[in-house]
Amino acid sequence: MQATAIAQPNIALIKYWGKRDVERNLPAVGSISVTLRELHTEVSVALSSDLRSDELFVNGEESQPLLPRISRCLDNVIGTQRLRARITSRSNFPIAAGLASSASAFAATTVAAASAADLSFSTEELARLAGQASGSAARSLYGGFVELRNSGDTIKLAALREVDSWPLQVVVAITETGPKPTGSTEAMEISRETSPFYTSWIEQQDQDLEIARTAILQRDFAQLATVAEHNCLKMHSVMWASRPPMVYWNSATMRCMQTVRQLQTEGCQVFFTIDAGPQVKAVCLPEDAEAVSKALAETPGVQEIMMSGLGSAARLVDKT
Ligand code: DP6
Repeated sequence: MQATAIAQPNIALIKYWGKRDVERNLPAVGSISVTLRELHTEVSVALSSDLRSDELFVNGEESQPLLPRISRCLDNVIGTQRLRARITSRSNFPIAAGLASSASAFAATTVAAASAADLSFSTEELARLAGQASGSAARSLYGGFVELRNSGDTIKLAALREVDSWPLQVVVAITETGPKPTGSTEAMEISRETSPFYTSWIEQQDQDLEIARTAILQRDFAQLATVAEHNCLKMHSVMWASRPPMVYWNSATMRCMQTVRQLQTEGCQVFFTIDAGPQVKAVCLPEDAEAVSKALAETPGVQEIMMSGLGSAARLVDKT
């Protein structure tokens, strides 16, 4: 009773920030993301009656801190009266780099767990289960451009565009590695409880989703760039105005934003987006990817550059 699944992380262009139900991890807003191709997490789940408790190995090392959340994810997918599991996870990118590693990890864990237990779910059901573990993980169940919508008491997902129909590139500038000062789950609650901008953030989200959805359907890069940067900066304004303030940027983050602005004035089709961490993700047209990557690599404070095209949905790769 073992299964292995692969999932890729995704980068939100219209951000998920805030929960309407913490217990069920339901987001307060919809979001739109792109699933990446070159980065991935592979997770194996082996259920066994020989195990007395769950065991988790991340990149070859036993991990206690992450185990409770993974065990909860398995309980949620398989049920609490389940066999214990050995879970092994491997990512081909640094986990601490703030690259939504939880999205690919929980998406792959959900798919592998369901298969190991011989349970069959639709993709949307798997996405809902993954989303209960981590909101952004729901989007990695789909490839290309993905929209997550709030729908009544649940979420609905849709692939807006297939992977190859608009082959954008994502250049990630790593400015710092190491754990986040405040994890997203806790930070979202702090924002909801204390940020004076939180309500307007929630109120304006549908409008941003609509603009981004239309831009993606029409392959209108300029329109997508404007709304994605605006949405990202609004989310960070909510964080900055929270108490305590949550500032995830460092000086290199700012310099990367200036580099992207400079590239824009030179005619490059590129925009930036930043999540709950100091890395800058520059989204661009394929013909501009080399110039973007070079300019960001030369920006003081950038430690490493990663490049990725858009990738496909989480999938099962092995089952025994
Ligand atoms: C800033 O999905 O990590 O990356 O549901 O609490 O696990 P939890 O949050 P998580 O939050 C992602 C926040 C973000 C924006 C985004 O990916 O949409």
